Amino acid sequence: MKYSVKEIRAVESRADGLVIGVFEGELEKGDFEDLDKALNGRLADTAKRRKFKGKRGQVMPLETMGALPAGYVVVVGMGNRGDSTSEPYRFASAVAARAVKSAGVRSCASALVSLAGSDEEAEMIAQAAVEGTRLALYNFDTFKKEKSPVKLEEYVILAQGAKAAAGKGMKRGAVVADAVMLARDLINTPANYATPTYLGNQAAALGKKHGFKCTIHGLKAIEKMKMGGLIGVAKGSQEEPRFIVMEYMKGPKSQKPIVMVGKGLTFDSGGISIKPSLNMHEMKSDMSGGAATIAVMTAVATMKLKVNLVGLVPATENMPSGTATKPGDVLTGLSGVTMEVLNTDAEGRLILSDALAYAGRYKPDCTVDFATLTGACMVALGAHCSGLFGNDDELVGQLQECGMRTGDRLWPLPLFQEYEDDIKSQVADIANIGPRGGGASTAAAFLKRHVTGKWAHVDIAGTAFSDKEKGYIRKGGTGAGVRVMLDFIIRRVGLE
Ligand code: BES
Ligand code: MN
Ligand code: ZN
Repeated sequence: MKYSVKEIRAVESRADGLVIGVFEGELEKGDFEDLDKALNGRLADTAKRRKFKGKRGQVMPLETMGALPAGYVVVVGMGNRGDSTSEPYRFASAVAARAVKSAGVRSCASALVSLAGSDEEAEMIAQAAVEGTRLALYNFDTFKKEKSPVKLEEYVILAQGAKAAAGKGMKRGAVVADAVMLARDLINTPANYATPTYLGNQAAALGKKHGFKCTIHGLKAIEKMKMGGLIGVAKGSQEEPRFIVMEYMKGPKSQKPIVMVGKGLTFDSGGISIKPSLNMHEMKSDMSGGAATIAVMTAVATMKLKVNLVGLVPATENMPSGTATKPGDVLTGLSGVTMEVLNTDAEGRLILSDALAYAGRYKPDCTVDFATLTGACMVALGAHCSGLFGNDDELVGQLQECGMRTGDRLWPLPLFQEYEDDIKSQVADIANIGPRGGGASTAAAFLKRHVTGKWAHVDIAGTAFSDKEKGYIRKGGTGAGVRVMLDFIIRRVGLE
């Protein structure tokens, strides 16, 4: 898809499809008013007939029948004005993109930037518009004979008086959307293709192409490093584990790196504590944190940001077999902490413990991990935000803010001392499960034992994979974590 910015008014646009946005109850203003005049009142009439009020998600397509250079107008509802985050623009652009797609339009112009009150807002809207449009049109057809390529070839942002700002947002949006789609592709690729070896190879290829260093550790190296958690989980599988280390050190020498860690469980059957078969196929998505990490590295390198960033992905399958770790076994992680495996399905924390301990070697500014860690987090928060934990209030606060700004939302959950007490073991330093309640927090408490320095943990169990189509979310992998982490990195090092 080709993106560009034009400094013309909506009525002048020659694109096949023209998208305009209206806030609830604010019809008869701005672009709507202009276009309505050019269409001899047909826009307002149609809105009345179809009860279009500008509610969030409402959409009203209309043929212009020669009255305008554009062939087809799509009016989208923005919901209530008031909150100044990017999400309404992203969502509205996605809704419009779906309408445009079903009309088979090849070129599309968006006038959403005309709703901006400042250059800063113009940039934010342009970025959100590109993200929402591109992500709504995402399609995973690698394994289908009949492909459905995106028909929309040209996307134009109309930005009168804000060309530079909109251009900047548009460029950022294109890179961010590509990164989210890269994560989605990795997640959606079935586990018999997307093995730990495959993830490592993909990371290496992306590193070569976009300019970050990638070191792949195989089983021997993992054993030599004494990553007991990762070894213990990988033992049940025929697939060799990988420990993927990605380094992008283009920031000032004096700047401590940010370390991103992502759970790379390419298939979670539960192991000996096997999962029920219903929806087990969705556990190909248990590497979503790892996918987000690879995608973020790729985007940061593509944008040539002046930051020091490290990405770590422990990758393995969790399978039952004669060689698998058994309930009651004790593993010694890289941190030296001994871990009693009371349930082999609580494997994510075992592999993450080694990656978090490894992160300490970089003496990082902070470590942030993303993991599809607990069903409990999904029960607590649903799909509307990811769970957020940490040992540093400022870091947690910043991440929460970035979540609101990008629409890739995170919400804090507690990590009280009591949760750490909950994972005491009879025979080892800690057990890998706690009592029935508070599963998301006891999992976070487990991770905390392996961490040095400032750290945050994001549980994306409820957000990483969708069984519904909604706005720019397609069924399957969502790419949760990519947008919020990219925004966080840029702000943490003061690039914005
Ligand atoms: N990968 C799962 C968590 C998960 C469940 C993610 C559903 C997405 C959707 C994780 O490894 C797991 O199995 N967790 C267990 C932990 C329990 C045994 C303490 C869980 O949440 O049931
Ligand atoms: Mn599991
Ligand atoms: Zn898992």
